[in-house]
Amino acid sequence: MIDDADRLLLARALELAERGARTAAPNPLVGCVIARRGTVVAEGWHIRPGEPHAEAMALAVAQEGARDATVYVTLEPCAHHGRTPPCSDALIAAEVGRVVVLSNDPAPHASGKGLLQLVDAGIPVDVVDDDDPLAIAARRQNAGFRSAMTLGRPHVTCKAAQTLDGRTATWSGDSRWISGVEARARVHELRARVGAVLVGSGTALTDDPELTARDCDPPVEQQPLRVVWDRSARLGAASRLAQTVSRGPVLLLCAPGADASRRAAVAETGIEVVEVADLAAGLEVLHARDIQSVLCEGGAGLAGALHGAGLLDRMIVVVAPKLLGDPLAPGLLGETGTSATQMADAMSLAAWSSETIGDDLWIDAWLREPR
Ligand SMILES: NC(=O)c1ccc[n+]([C@@H]2O[C@H](COP(=O)([O-])OP(=O)(O)OC[C@H]3O[C@@H](n4cnc5c(N)ncnc54)[C@H](OP(=O)(O)O)[C@@H]3O)[C@@H](O)[C@H]2O)c1
Repeated sequence: MIDDADRLLLARALELAERGARTAAPNPLVGCVIARRGTVVAEGWHIRPGEPHAEAMALAVAQEGARDATVYVTLEPCAHHGRTPPCSDALIAAEVGRVVVLSNDPAPHASGKGLLQLVDAGIPVDVVDDDDPLAIAARRQNAGFRSAMTLGRPHVTCKAAQTLDGRTATWSGDSRWISGVEARARVHELRARVGAVLVGSGTALTDDPELTARDCDPPVEQQPLRVVWDRSARLGAASRLAQTVSRGPVLLLCAPGADASRRAAVAETGIEVVEVADLAAGLEVLHARDIQSVLCEGGAGLAGALHGAGLLDRMIVVVAPKLLGDPLAPGLLGETGTSATQMADAMSLAAWSSETIGDDLWIDAWLREPR
């Protein structure tokens, strides 16, 4: 059982975990608080692979102060030897008094083992209920890691800006800008947190985006992989993506049999070109490169195709206080092949929330909760 004091410290552990958001992948985000009678003794978080786990960082600060203290951790402590020694051993050696855990480790080789070791060592362990909002927040925080472990593919979020009447561009293809500067700045932060940013060929050709994470505070250490879904390899050598390869890698996913001379022209610019059969195979390519989270920035054609293939996990929709009034202008999702004829058959979301950013409404919708 956890009480209100426990909840405050678990919320703090979640905040600490967030500090690894740009760097921890492909490891999970983990935060840890060591406390005695509600007073924090030490804090830790996982920064990047190869560096101490959150528990190890906190134990190193707490030293003797960890004995009989309560350890709050956002993910089950590991029990295996990876690049660093097992956290369960370290907690047992430090003779901590109790461990409170927010989420299980979804990795098949790790799941449940750390908890079992702690219990076997006589340390009381509380695992927060799966449907507790803090536990849900912990699983969402590691949506990418959990998707990689449980689905064998990256977590996919589609982000789009739309007018109040649901349009994502004019009929002529203009979409700059629908949302305001504040929301657009937030998108750069999103880019800084994902393994890859993805766009469809229509967006790449119409908008000619750069897709780097810019003007972030602090500046990004490593740009996400920029990926174009372009089955016919139509992206030109003069495109901004091709012209900015020196700022970060670009991958073009094309269909087998895409025109050889167009592919060669793209590859000449330094863009990597990989043939894939379909969208699922494209995500497999990313998964094989340890990319756990993908931010798809449009357009409606690609978002619809991802949704239709059952590969869309979350949508971030920025609604701007503008009206286009054009029934021919594109909406959020192009053809999905899954459209319902009755409202009763519409897909219900797992969860959603909204906030105001500048003049825009920022909607964060989870099509399914991370497992
Ligand atoms: N408001 C916003 O947030 C926002 C964001 C981005 C873009 N936009 C606007 O949206 C417009 C571009 O959107 P768009 O819908 O035309 O293009 P798009 O989504 O960027 O490109 C269409 C993509 O869907 C793929 N596709 C279509 N059907 C598919 C299927 N069955 N299986 C797999 N892939 C499939 C296409 O592959 P192929 O390569 O084979 O064609 C292509 O990559 C532009 O006007 C742009 O300004 C708005």
